[in-house]
Amino acid sequence: MSRVTRSCTPFDGQKPGTSGLRKKTRVFMQDHYLEAFVQSIFNAIGGAEGKTFVIGGDGRYFNAEAIQTILRMASANGATRAVVGQNGLLSTPAASNLIRQRGTDGGLILSASHNPGGIDEDFGLKFNTPNGGPAPEKVTEKMFEQTKTLSEYHTLETADIDLGAIGETSLGKMAVEIVDPVEDYTALMKTLFDFDAIRAHIKGGFSLKFDAMHAVTGPYATAILEGELGAPEGTVMNGVPKVDFGKGHPDPNPIWAKPLVDLVMSADGPDFAAASDGDGDRNMILGKGLYVTPSDSLAVLAANAHLAPGYDKGLAGVARSMPTSQAADRVAEKLGIECFETPTGWKFFGNLLDAGRATLCGEESAGTGSDHVREKDGLWAVLLWLNILAVRKVSVKEILMDHWQTYGRNYYSRHDYEAVDSDKANTLMADLEAKLADLPGTEVHGLTVSEADQFAYHDPVDGSVSRNQGIRILFEGGSRGVLRLSGTGTEGATLRVYLERYMPADGDLEIETQAALKDVAAAIGEISGLHARTGRDAPDVMT
Ligand code: G1P
Ligand code: ZN
Repeated sequence: MSRVTRSCTPFDGQKPGTSGLRKKTRVFMQDHYLEAFVQSIFNAIGGAEGKTFVIGGDGRYFNAEAIQTILRMASANGATRAVVGQNGLLSTPAASNLIRQRGTDGGLILSASHNPGGIDEDFGLKFNTPNGGPAPEKVTEKMFEQTKTLSEYHTLETADIDLGAIGETSLGKMAVEIVDPVEDYTALMKTLFDFDAIRAHIKGGFSLKFDAMHAVTGPYATAILEGELGAPEGTVMNGVPKVDFGKGHPDPNPIWAKPLVDLVMSADGPDFAAASDGDGDRNMILGKGLYVTPSDSLAVLAANAHLAPGYDKGLAGVARSMPTSQAADRVAEKLGIECFETPTGWKFFGNLLDAGRATLCGEESAGTGSDHVREKDGLWAVLLWLNILAVRKVSVKEILMDHWQTYGRNYYSRHDYEAVDSDKANTLMADLEAKLADLPGTEVHGLTVSEADQFAYHDPVDGSVSRNQGIRILFEGGSRGVLRLSGTGTEGATLRVYLERYMPADGDLEIETQAALKDVAAAIGEISGLHARTGRDAPDVMT
């Protein structure tokens, strides 16, 4: 086995974000492409010499091949140990946990999250730092610089190793430890939740379904829900990870997980249902006959977390991304704890979690998590719900009704306008921003604007400021519209319009969501002129 240095040409690496570098799979499969990015990662973190890395991914097409390449390169770059999920699998939260538990120097996670997988679909790779969280901008910036100038990379000339055999082997001078991807994660969940109570609740007739969407949470959900908690076989649907996710979008929302939604809406559906995405960090929660919005889910979890052993001392604080509904704020207020409003993206929670200021975090885009790892965690959210249901012994619907009767209801929906002409979208936002100062006091569709601004976040931990994070238009009475351009869209611009209407606890709590939001939608439409400007009369997607 010999160590070789090969030359490569710098590539147009598009700046890796906190979700790493995402490209079409065939792009990653080009000669030296993956290699150039991996070498850029190692160079950006001051080399791999003497380091230990966690390596694993969501099992999509090219996952296993890419891991073999990364292992050879880690060894050739002087790493001393690699901890790899069996068959190359590790969910994003499980990888975050392993990175932390083992006190490693970080990890390489292979995933394109909820994007489809396959040779003609998407692939991605990201680096997480020793705290278990995605590399911050100053690190991804260095990677980007490397990709522009890199001329060579180091690897080994050696055969593939067997990723299926649990135990320790070696590759060059590097030890490779193949671990059960589920074991450490399950152990962590057991420290947070009352497995006995959940098991007893299921045994008592409480029924549930979990849709793993042919992605990475299959083995985790099967081991925990069916194995540990005694749910009947078949509780986990689509539980075997497939390289192409069964040709679907492994995105847990009512559109892509429609079969599961149809199931809970049917008369003989389960009491509870949930789904997670490609890499296991997102979640969708459903109760018999109803869909729980991620914003409501965060608020309910915050109000009830103390019922689970891991949170029985209460929460330090709650954080939500700015467009997420303000339902959690009302809970924080009642609990007398801090509530943080951060820009969109999980990375903004990292400082608050590390500093012990926030315990629970959430985003309206199906991301919920806590300080147990530094990523959002789909199965964790499911288990916290199950723990709460097992203690309270009422239905999901009763929990929600009780919540709304206590705090009032924040009706909520996100309207997406996709593939909008970028210039038109940018002009819309700029023109709207220019008139924000004049909006307060204006009455539109029966709503009076109380405040309007372009959201800037002042990080209370490190003092950094992030500007232009989206336009907020607040109405008297607690309703709100938010407009921002997506940072993850691939075609033109995606305009996201987030609508929220606050209904006090003694108001009508059971209006159909879009009907409840009709006036807020009309007011935001009129203020921004979005329909005329985009040439669209209706959103492409409503969640
Ligand atoms: C979207 C979501 C955001 C999430 C991000 C990464 O970003 O809205 O909450 O953190 O994906 O999963 P956007 O396309 O809106 O920039
Ligand atoms: Zn994901």
